[in-house]
Order: sequence, then structure tokens, then C-alpha cells
Amino acid sequence: TSRDSTRMQNIQEILDEIFGAAISSACPDITDAPVVITLSNNAKFGDYQCNSAMQISNIYKQLGKKVSPRDIANKIVENVSPHELVDKLEVAGPGFINVFVSKAFGLRNLSTIFTHGVRPPPYKKLRVVVDLSSPNIAKEMHVGHLRSTIIGDTICRLLEFLGHDVLRINHIGDWGTQFGMLIVHLQEKFPDYLSKAPPISDLQAFYKESKKRFDEDEDFKKRAYAGVVKLQSGDPNYIKAWQLICDVSRKEFQVIYDRLDVKLIERGESFYQSRMNDIVKELEAGGYLEDDEGRKVMWGDKNDGNIPFTVVKSDGGYTYDTSDLATIKQRIVEEKGDWLIYVTDAGQGTHFYILFQIARKIGLLTDNIRVDHVPFGVVLGEDKKKFKTRSGDTVRLIDLLEEGLKRALDKLKEKGRDQVLTPEELKQAQESIAYGCIKYADLSHNRHHEYVFSFDKMLEDKGNTAVYLLYAYTRIRSIARTANFDDKKIEDVAKSHTISLDHEKEWKLAKVLLKFPEELDKVTKDLCPHHLCEYVYEIATTFTEFYDSCYCVEKDSSGDIVKVNHGRILLAEATARVMAKCLDILGLKPVAKM
Ligand code: ARG
Repeated sequence: TSRDSTRMQNIQEILDEIFGAAISSACPDITDAPVVITLSNNAKFGDYQCNSAMQISNIYKQLGKKVSPRDIANKIVENVSPHELVDKLEVAGPGFINVFVSKAFGLRNLSTIFTHGVRPPPYKKLRVVVDLSSPNIAKEMHVGHLRSTIIGDTICRLLEFLGHDVLRINHIGDWGTQFGMLIVHLQEKFPDYLSKAPPISDLQAFYKESKKRFDEDEDFKKRAYAGVVKLQSGDPNYIKAWQLICDVSRKEFQVIYDRLDVKLIERGESFYQSRMNDIVKELEAGGYLEDDEGRKVMWGDKNDGNIPFTVVKSDGGYTYDTSDLATIKQRIVEEKGDWLIYVTDAGQGTHFYILFQIARKIGLLTDNIRVDHVPFGVVLGEDKKKFKTRSGDTVRLIDLLEEGLKRALDKLKEKGRDQVLTPEELKQAQESIAYGCIKYADLSHNRHHEYVFSFDKMLEDKGNTAVYLLYAYTRIRSIARTANFDDKKIEDVAKSHTISLDHEKEWKLAKVLLKFPEELDKVTKDLCPHHLCEYVYEIATTFTEFYDSCYCVEKDSSGDIVKVNHGRILLAEATARVMAKCLDILGLKPVAKM
């Protein structure tokens, strides 16, 4: 990694590099010796550790040579070429190498925050196609879609921040046989639908009505089937009715996206109609399709439970499988995606596993393209059962957001904030807390696990919650203000003073901030946003430790400023800026006053 004086460097990456080189010189007889660098969990043992010596000693053993890990560690240390990052190396215990980060490196890196903003090392710019949210028309958008929306949005925000070219696709379920019954029901209930938009306010109820007719009335069922054919053949009246129905859902979805500030490009299943025809023809021509009781199927490998991928149904129709063969092809061939991400519930794991297998098999997916299915667990209620309302219905997302707003306001009133803030400030604080806590509760849990949705828990102001972080952030931001420093003044101070790193707690905080690039890198690798939540929480708690023992602004009993520690104000400001970036990636919106 070449040094770029405008960006923070990734310490983990530098250590991998310099230890990699040292290990190859120290152990030339071992190819691909493991380079194991971890964060140290005890400051006594340095900031990072290289634990390769033990593993290398074992490799020697297998080769019939006896070399102690300590000797190997010493030899590695001798071969580490001097680097600004490394203050000191120590061999400890059976053969650990403790790495102490230098303050000069820390200072130079943190200073870039003031000169160039919070910037991680550059990444090779990739075209990333992210499939997120993706609810279904006329069916309710449920908490599972909310998870996909929130997790997917954070992944997009992260990749956008890293400089990638991200395409956010909302793959809504806007096609399929259910539209036959919906359209015919619409036509019969609102005969003048072509001239006057039908007043459907509750599309779910409308769906239920048409489904009831479909199940009970044979004649209606026939008309519904005929309706599908008309729609698929592009009959303008049917297309119009279909659009009217989609519009009702679309408006409902948009309310949620606006509130959560999530931007998406709608490209639903209908977009892939002709593309499904094309890919089916190609698969047919390539001899890939097997006949399975009238269906045309393909198989993945044997690790997927031997479930077939249904490409064409026995009645000639297409399936969810067919539509995703079309999405993967479109995203690789037309969008020229270097990286495809699909964010859905874990229940679709097998579907995507087989999809990727098949895409490889037919030569579409090659090794230079990264694909990820990003699964997540189900949302549970506080009774640990599937999240439902008291009466057993699915929770409408809009109601959930409203409830969050109400609870956030109660919380603010409990603290007497309604007495202090202007109505406008109070409203902003309320929204920041409500949407912030819903997002953060989701993001801070390891997405692979199910999580319990609890307003009480997520609105707590202690522990790793949005409320705690938003308050912590606002407090840090206000420190410079107590010294009467505005942004302009801080820019000047940053030019005339250096960030203070002398006190043990200052240096501890600085080292947490220096992890920013590697923390982002971690999330980029496994797409698990909870790492970032843990990191931002670590920043907030380490800041508190610092602030408890280091004054920034000293005032006398009458409240007059007697002393301002410029170096510490800069450290507080750097903390606020790193935190702001993390909160932004997590989709949280801190407000100036709350
Ligand atoms: N509409 C689907 C659902 O509600 C999710 C679609 C995910 N995206 C995809 N390309 N399959 O479960």
C-alpha cells in the first residue's frame, strides 16, 4: 500500500504486508506461510499481534524439523523492515509478536481528517448491483422486507462511501398469475377504471376479496386465468388495470422509503418478461434443461439437498427461479456488474445457492465476478414468536413507524426535552430517534440470527442502542461549542495546533479512531453491518473514558472559560467526524439538539 497523505491508512493491511514480507525472508523454506495478524485484546501486549510463529513451527514439525515458535518469532522480528507504523515489536509468551503502533503514524493519519475529511484508502471502483427491499405488489410489505431494506441500504451506503458505482434495485413482485384475479376483480368492481382511477385504499383487503372469489367461484377463476393470458400478451386494457394496481402499492411503499430515507430504483419482475423468454431459449438450445414430470428443470450440485431449479412449469409458465436466472444474466451482461448482492431472508438460501451454481455451470458467472446472497434471520415479537400484532395479523410497517414516533416522543417528554426544544427541533429529534432506533436495532444484531423486536429495548439510552449513540454524538459535537469554536475556528485550530495524544486515554481513543479503515474493510468482506455498530459503540465508550479523565475546556465557578486545550478539542472533533461517517453509513441522522 503506497502512502497517500490525503487518506487514513488501513493498519491491518500494512501489517499483513510487512509481516508477510518478513515471514517469507525468515522462513524461505516454507511456501505460503500463514500471516496471522489480530488486534490485541490487552494493551499490555501491544496494539496488534502476529501469531504466525506457532503455526509455522507446526508446519516445520510436519516436515520433520524441530524449530521452536520463539526462535521463529525472533527471526521474523529481525526481518521486519522499519516502518513508520511500528513503534516497537516484542516477542512474548510461546512466540507471539506484539506490535505497538507509533504516535507519529497516528498523528499523521488523524491529521488527514482535518485536511481532507474522513477518507479510507482507495478501493478499485466496482460496479455493484444490490437487490434489496423487494416487496410484492398487493401483498403486505412485512418486517422481513423492512430488514432487507435496512440491511441493504447500509450495504449500499458503505459501498457508495468507498467509491463504488452502486445500482440499488428494488426487485418488486409485480408479475405472476395472481394478477389475473386482481385485474378481473378490478374490472368488475370498477367498470369505469379506464377513465377514473379506482378508489382502492386498502389493497390487502382488495387482494383478499379477489382471492375469495377466485377460490369460491369457478367462473371467476376461468376469467382470472384468461386475464393472465391477456396481460401477458400485452392487451392495453389489462396493462392499464395492472398499472393501476401496482400504483396503489407503489405509493404505499414509497411512504416507507421516504420516511427511512432509502433510495431505490424500481425494477420489478415484469421487467424481465422478454429476458426470461430469451434465457429459456438459450438453456434449451444449450441442452441444459431436463424433463421432470413435465417440468423443465436444472440441478445445482449435490450440496443443495438435491432440489431442482424449475425453469419452466408443466403449463409452460415461468417461476421465481426463472426470474432470477434472468436477473443474474441481466446484471452481468447488461449492467456489467462486477459484484452482485441479493439481500433476502435466510429462507431463500437454497434458491440463491442453486442459482449461483447454475449461473457458473452455464458460464455466465465467472471467477472475476463476486456474488453474495446476504441472508437474514426472522424478526420475532417479545414473546419470541413470529412478529405479529396482538390479534395475530401481520404488523403493517406504517403502523410500526408510527408507533416508533409515538414512543420516541414519550421518551423525549420523559426527559423534559419538550420544555427545552423548539417544536421544530423536537420533531427532528423525534424522527431521528424513532427511525434511528428501528434501523439500529436491526443492524446491530448479527444478521444471520433472528432478533427480537422490542421498542423498550431499542429506546434504552444505555448500552449499544441508537439513542445512546445519538446522544453521545451530540455531546461530543457540543464540546467545541462550549469553547465557542465554530467550524471555521476549528479549521484554523487544526492548522495551528496538533491533536493531543500524550495522555494514555487520548492515545487509547486515537487508536480506536485509527481502526476506521479496517472496520469498514471487515464489513466489506462479510457484509455484516453489526461490526460497524460494535465499532461505533466502542468509539463512544472510549470517548467517555477519555472525557472523564481529560478536560477539554475548563471553566471557573461562574462559568467563564479559564483554559482551552486545543489539542483535545481537535481529538474530540476528529472523534465526532469519524462517528458521523459511521452513523451515516448506518442510516442514522443525528440532530444538532435533542
Ligand atoms: N419479492 C421477494 C420476496 O418478497 C424478494 C425478491 C428478492 N430478489 C430476487 N431477485 N429474488 O420474498
